[in-house]
Amino acid sequence: MITVENVTVSYPDKTLALRQVSFTVKEGQSLALVGPNGAGKSTLLLALVGVLLPQQGTITIDGLKVAKESLPEIRRRVGMVFQNPDDQLFMPMIYDDLAFGPRNMGFSEEKVRALVEDTLERLQISHLKKRSSLKLSGGEKRMAAIGTVLTMNPSVIVLDEPSSFLDPKARRNLIGLLGRIKQTKIIATHDLDLALEACDQAVILNKGMVAASGSPQELFFDEGLMEACQLEALKRR
Ligand SMILES: Nc1ncnc2c1ncn2[C@@H]1O[C@H](COP(=O)(O)OP(=O)(O)O)[C@@H](O)[C@H]1O
Ligand SMILES: [Mg+2]
Repeated sequence: MITVENVTVSYPDKTLALRQVSFTVKEGQSLALVGPNGAGKSTLLLALVGVLLPQQGTITIDGLKVAKESLPEIRRRVGMVFQNPDDQLFMPMIYDDLAFGPRNMGFSEEKVRALVEDTLERLQISHLKKRSSLKLSGGEKRMAAIGTVLTMNPSVIVLDEPSSFLDPKARRNLIGLLGRIKQTKIIATHDLDLALEACDQAVILNKGMVAASGSPQELFFDEGLMEACQLEALKRR
């Protein structure tokens, strides 16, 4: 479904953020992208949606190469949930935030309403539809931000640090929701507990390179590996 092959990305100021990164994700899988601050996780997500184009290497989504020409189709296929929900919610009401994508795709207002109401219900946030995002809690904002992506029904969903700004209850709620989202997912996070529960594959990035890949079970408890990657290994209970 997703192939990342020898991808190298540097920023205009010449910071080399990703070096020769390769991995694949199968349809319906949930991949955790873990690594310390500055490892390149956000950069990789931006490359997956074509906001940044690699200097070297290729990314393909369901057979389509991410490139300037393919951007409109790539954006339809891949939905991104930003780290900060304030970057995603900008309408006066949550209802309109969720309606924004489908309206842009030219759906009738009736179809838009059905989609939005369905998604609000699925996220258990129907009561927020007339509220402004400015007055919501971190957990409510996160759900609404995920909602703006779900109403577009992309085949791939990428999430950047989804558990940031969440209290323990909202985090639990998020983990439950991630399990119910059937699309192919890539979750960038340094929350290893969340990654262990919500993902079936993991790629560890360190200094822009793939340090290891495998199942969360085999990677996250490996003290030597995790320490070498500036991460704290999980403890078996
Ligand atoms: N807009 C930018 N311009 C220049 N360098 C950047 C920019 N954004 C990120 N970087 C650098 O790229 C590297 C990877 O950053 P990032 O992808 O944000 O890491 P992570 O999400 O894993 O914390 C870091 O060295 C960071 O300082
Ligand atoms: Mg980041």
